Amino acid sequence: MNLELKDKIVLITGATGGIGEASARLFAKEGADVIIHYHKNRENAEKLTLEFGEETLAIQADLADEHQVVAMFKSIKEKKGRIDILICNAGIWPEEYIEIEKMSFSRWRKTLSVDLDSVFLCCRSFVQQLREFNGDSASIIIVGSTAGVFGEAGHADYASAKSAISYGFTKSLKNEIIQVAPLARVNAVCPGWTVSPMTKKYLDDENEVTHVLKTVPLKKLGESEDVAHMIVILASDKASGHINGEVITIAGGMEGRSLHLPEEIDFKKAFKR
Ligand SMILES: NC(=O)c1ccc[n+]([C@@H]2O[C@H](COP(=O)([O-])OP(=O)(O)OC[C@H]3O[C@@H](n4cnc5c(N)ncnc54)[C@H](OP(=O)(O)O)[C@@H]3O)[C@@H](O)[C@H]2O)c1
Repeated sequence: MNLELKDKIVLITGATGGIGEASARLFAKEGADVIIHYHKNRENAEKLTLEFGEETLAIQADLADEHQVVAMFKSIKEKKGRIDILICNAGIWPEEYIEIEKMSFSRWRKTLSVDLDSVFLCCRSFVQQLREFNGDSASIIIVGSTAGVFGEAGHADYASAKSAISYGFTKSLKNEIIQVAPLARVNAVCPGWTVSPMTKKYLDDENEVTHVLKTVPLKKLGESEDVAHMIVILASDKASGHINGEVITIAGGMEGRSLHLPEEIDFKKAFKR
């Protein structure tokens, strides 16, 4: 199927990470003009621009910083004129397990600034530029997480940001954006445990993998390409032109969290007597 993404200008935030890079490759394969956003990994950004061709733009920004986001969109406008598709993929998952009662305000703020504020800032600039070039259709894909669907103990900061972007934000923006571009769509994807630089250390531990797969019928982890394929399909008006405001979980059918080991359950206390 021709997804009709050829020559579409696609900005992928965090294109230097696992899911971002896989998405960038798929969009490039479809003939899209991919803009590679990166934060610290300049080396990978340069490698990808070489791979995709000399027209490819790579741009650096800390997306938690309002001024840097505004400057990034200004620079893209000068060089490319417009953006058709925005993939809000950049994010952090602070590895350390910290309960809410022990969580510092600085950890909470840092996570929310990268995982929530950045999405607001990028989408705001994207819609503003949409108004200027009078595009009829446009597409935004927001990368949430199953943490935002099921919660994640020890990572309430991350789970809260991901819920916010996948639900309240996505569903509000899809009703607003049509005032600017009548056929514009906003959808979210929520990956479960996916092999990428973000999770590599955690998923190297066999016990952790066994534990997280207890609630996954397919009994396997996701690959970055699993998420990237869904992002590309959702971005395509041809394939998904009537799909809007959806939150699609990409997690092998994950049911939720496994909270207890069998030996932690006291059978007698399970009944109210
Ligand atoms: N992997 C999973 O299991 C999983 C599960 C659910 C959801 N997700 C979500 O999927 C998205 C991609 O994750 P991934 O697994 O591909 O992670 P990753 O490999 O660690 O990539 C994260 C990307 O975010 C960028 N980034 C980090 N901090 C930034 C900042 N302050 N400003 C701008 N960019 C920043 C990084 O840029 P540089 O590398 O250039 O520094 C990198 O490109 C994230 O939103 C993540 O929360 C991942």
